[in-house]
Amino acid sequence: MLAKSSGIEAAYRSKFGESARLFERGLSVFPNGVTHDARYLQPFPVYVKEAAGSRKTTVEGESLIDYWVGHGALILGHGHPDVVTAVQRQMARGTHFSACHELEIEWGERVQRLVPSAERVRFTSSGTEATLMALRIARLVTERTKVIKFIGHFHGWHDLLVPAAYAPYTIDDWSMPGVTPGVISDLVAIPPNDLQAVEQAFREQQPACCILEPTGGHWGLVPIQEEFLRGLRDLCSKYGVILIFDEVISGFRVAPGGAQAHYGVKPDMTTLAKILAGGLPGGAVCGRAELLDAIAFGNRHGKKMKHPGTFNGNPLSAAAGCAALDALADGIAGSRAIEAARQLRGRLNDLFAQKSTPWVAYGEFSMIHILPEYHGPRPTDDGFIPHAGKYEQLDNEQSAALKHAFRTALITNGVDWFGWSGMTSAVHSDSDIDETVTAFGRTIDQLVSDGLV
Ligand SMILES: Cc1ncc(COP(=O)(O)O)c(C=O)c1O
Repeated sequence: MLAKSSGIEAAYRSKFGESARLFERGLSVFPNGVTHDARYLQPFPVYVKEAAGSRKTTVEGESLIDYWVGHGALILGHGHPDVVTAVQRQMARGTHFSACHELEIEWGERVQRLVPSAERVRFTSSGTEATLMALRIARLVTERTKVIKFIGHFHGWHDLLVPAAYAPYTIDDWSMPGVTPGVISDLVAIPPNDLQAVEQAFREQQPACCILEPTGGHWGLVPIQEEFLRGLRDLCSKYGVILIFDEVISGFRVAPGGAQAHYGVKPDMTTLAKILAGGLPGGAVCGRAELLDAIAFGNRHGKKMKHPGTFNGNPLSAAAGCAALDALADGIAGSRAIEAARQLRGRLNDLFAQKSTPWVAYGEFSMIHILPEYHGPRPTDDGFIPHAGKYEQLDNEQSAALKHAFRTALITNGVDWFGWSGMTSAVHSDSDIDETVTAFGRTIDQLVSDGLV
């Protein structure tokens, strides 16, 4: 992606030689050498050997301030002492009992205490499994087929919901390689923040359920308006459509009880993962008891949804999850992460203005998005959303060359940023923020000298 003559690429190559060698090995093991699409990076990704607090250390010994935070799972930072102790203790006691255990109840009870919609809970192994389960429950209970989702909302990679998750968004053509047209025809994807489109789809399609990221697609890249969330709740109740909040990212991040607690809007079901399991693998569906009853033997629906799963309620994930949820329950750690992101958004916008760089930083809670090629009005406060929140302008395919150069340069300057976006943790300090702003400044200078900005 980077031009061969690029100064950015030369600096990256010279700093991360050991990573280049590991990538060569990875290439003969994994497609593209990687184990997650988002970790793919030209000319090679960096390899990390350890992490602590807000930082990761590469195999070369370079320290990176981390804004991926475990794909959003590590709001407490890497290696929070309570989580480490809980997992070590559990490791010695046993990692899999093939049996019920007390810790799974304690984990589930914490979810019930924190998440307003959680009358009942069922654990899964990932967020993808959780959204898959929520859809199947909704279909079983309503005996309807269609599912409504919103353009640009990501709910994992399974067949039923991956269509319409990624730009370009070609209305009425959500084809996704490997997913059958039959599956796609059961999905109706509509623009976010448009209650008229929702009501029309409810009337015409009679869907089983409607699922969304309650803070907006791709964790707030296109923010959801609060009044839309309230209107959606009302429409779901009016038309008997099951409302599912996918709180895999927003859960325990936006507030201890997630977006539903923050906005006071209660969905029928909620999907959780990431922070839920304290940085270990794990997910959950929770919601109204009557709906979760679909998984129970001899249930009121007269038919049971099958749900095995080797790692459901795994003791290690339960130990990490309990420790993490305890550390987040009073809201203080989450507020620290939100404050760090607010500060960083402001400092970055000052930097962009000072350097006359046509970029803007925006976002809500502890999430930060950078929009390049932005020539509109500058933000006057932290609530600023560019392009009045229109998804066509906020969520499109940005120049791949610029995106790669930006990320590569930022890593060379000591910051690991998730594409154009980043998340903060409770342990991102003032000095992390100072260093991040300096790294962005250097990165912009290098992009200018490589002719990319
Ligand atoms: C909102 C949302 N839902 C579901 C998922 C899928 O979760 P997992 O990666 O645990 O399968 C993700 C993952 O990033 C997500 O952001």
